[in-house]
Amino acid sequence: MSTLSQDDLKTLVGHAALKYVVPGEIVGVGTGSTVNKFIDALASMKGEIKGAVSSSNASTERLKALGIAVFDSNEVDELSVYIDGADEIDGHGFMIKGGGAALTREKIIAAQSRQFVCIADESKLVETLGKFPLPVEVIPMATQRVIKQFRALGGAAQLRLSNGIPLVTDNGQHIVDVTGLQIADPLAFETAVSQWPGVVTVGVFAHQKAQVCLLGTASGVKTLTF
Ligand code: 5RP
Repeated sequence: MSTLSQDDLKTLVGHAALKYVVPGEIVGVGTGSTVNKFIDALASMKGEIKGAVSSSNASTERLKALGIAVFDSNEVDELSVYIDGADEIDGHGFMIKGGGAALTREKIIAAQSRQFVCIADESKLVETLGKFPLPVEVIPMATQRVIKQFRALGGAAQLRLSNGIPLVTDNGQHIVDVTGLQIADPLAFETAVSQWPGVVTVGVFAHQKAQVCLLGTASGVKTLTF
């Protein structure tokens, strides 16, 4: 019996997300390896949509290469749907995001969308958020202070590096990754950390949670609604 690889599951949910795309409209598009599958599938519908608002330079390049028009977030009022992956998602649709460092633009687009459809393989479903290192985008000047604040909460935080130097996001900022947290109350946690000086975006998506999750499982795509 053949088993589906994680990559196969990503392809499955990427295709399944097409049914949430509204013809004639602009679709919100996230970032990551699962979303890349969605973008590739979206090319089959490019004649039916106006285009996309994209959450990263990487997704923008991929969309444009496939001939899909990309709009600036400011040119668009409300989006019907935002389709994006997650690093973790719980039974309420609360997520950890930002493994691909695109969390700030992801949260902006999620906020301007009526529905967040999360696409993920089943390894991403958790009881409590916090096993995946929590990404936090910070103003570089605040990095050490933010690291200390997480230490006081019992977490271990470190600056994300790329090729030995601090990773710089599409917004010119840095990322701190935090381990050792059990985020029992994601709404309260997101509210609190968002107010720390120098924090641009915390990778807990509770106020901008998913309404739907298309979960890739060994027995096919499971639709969870929250
Ligand atoms: C990028 C994200 C991604 O959605 C998240 O990291 C999941 O990525 P992948 O689909 O590659 O597992 O939040 O900032």
